[in-house]
Order: sequence, then structure tokens, then C-alpha cells
Amino acid sequence: MYKLAPSILSADFSKLGEEIATIERAGAQYVHIDVMDGSFVPSISFGMPIMKSIRKQSKCVFDVHLMIDEPVRYLKDFKDAGADLITVHAEACKHLDRTINAVKELGCKVGVALNPSTSLHVLDYVLDQVDMVLIMSVNPGFGGQSFIPYSIQKIKDLKKMIDERGLNVDIQVDGGIKLSNVKEVMDAGANVFVAGSAVFGENTEENTKAFLEIFNH
Ligand code: DX5
Ligand code: ZN
Repeated sequence: MYKLAPSILSADFSKLGEEIATIERAGAQYVHIDVMDGSFVPSISFGMPIMKSIRKQSKCVFDVHLMIDEPVRYLKDFKDAGADLITVHAEACKHLDRTINAVKELGCKVGVALNPSTSLHVLDYVLDQVDMVLIMSVNPGFGGQSFIPYSIQKIKDLKKMIDERGLNVDIQVDGGIKLSNVKEVMDAGANVFVAGSAVFGENTEENTKAFLEIFNH
């Protein structure tokens, strides 16, 4: 089952509630929430208070992508703000195994994100502990960047690794996903798709439906 995770980083924050209602009504399964700290990534986005206020009006899965150093410090805060799924960057954790376990102990699903240049080998010993792997197909930090072509091979390699071990781990892809390239990324083996600039804008509802239409064919 393919899932769409619109990234609210590209939404109009002056009407964030409406924006989320629109994607939810159109059928998006996840709301992708990009948290940036100005240290792990160059930019700063938003944090718990914004999440808390939108949580009240959405039933979607809150998919929280933490682009912050040592996320273990804030896991409980994000859980309390309404996170269902928390994804941490392997590069941002001194103790990745400990951080994965801390997310699980809170009762959230756990994802591990890898920057474009990070090898899949960091997952060798933890793959069976996670619910999702997030392959970054741009360098994290900003919306609206172009998909890095070598990500396709990386997704294929990860899919192979998961299948060979008989695991049930979702593959999420984030960065530069458009209606024009999503099919290729699906074919590579991914099943959860983040899209920011390709969803939010003039035709948010139509854009969401257009992605879901591709998933259903
Ligand atoms: C990048 C973020 C993405 C971003 C995706 O650091 O993690 O979720 O908002 O935006 P688009 O789809 O515009 O590349
Ligand atoms: Zn993201």
C-alpha cells in the first residue's frame, strides 16, 4: 500500500489548519512534519507548539522528521505534541541504537533517516528494529530542491536488503518528489512518499489526488 506524506514545510502557515484539512480530505494518509534546528541542517522550521495546535484537528498519521542534533533529548516532547511516527537521522545520533529504543519505549513508530551520502551499512545491525527507513533524495534543510538521481539505486539496494531479511520495513523517500518522477521511485521499491512543493500551492487538493491516483494504478 502506497502512502502520501505531504510536507507542511511548503504549506501556507497563515492558514495551516485549512491546508491540513485539505490534504486529509483529499486522502493523504500522513502529515509530514519537518523539524529543523539550524545546527544539523542550515535552516530552522518549527517545533512542538505548532504540532500541538494542528494535532487537535487532524486524524492523519503525524510523521515527524527530526532534522535536529541529538534528537534523543526531545523525543518525549514530540510524542506529547502528537507524533505517531518519529524519524531520526543516523548522522545526528551519537547512540543510534539507544535513540531507536527510546522512541519505541514511548510507544511511537520509529524511522531512521539517511542523508544522500550516508551508506546503508549504518542500518546493518538495526534494520530489524525499525518501522521505516527514510532515504533522503536531497540534502536536508530546504523544500523545493531537485531529486538526486543516485537515490534510485540506493532505494533498490535498501529494498533488496529488507526483502532478503524477510522484514516488513517501510521505505520513505523525501526530497524532489513530483508527479513526474514518483512512478520511478515506486518502481525502485519505496512505498511512502514525502512531497512538499509538489502538493501545496494553488491546487493542493488536486495535487494530492493526482499522487493518490498514480498510487492506485
Ligand atoms: C527537506 C525536507 C523535505 C522537504 C520536501 O529537508 O525534509 O520534507 O520539505 O520538499 P520538496 O518535496 O519540495 O522537495
Ligand atoms: Zn522531511
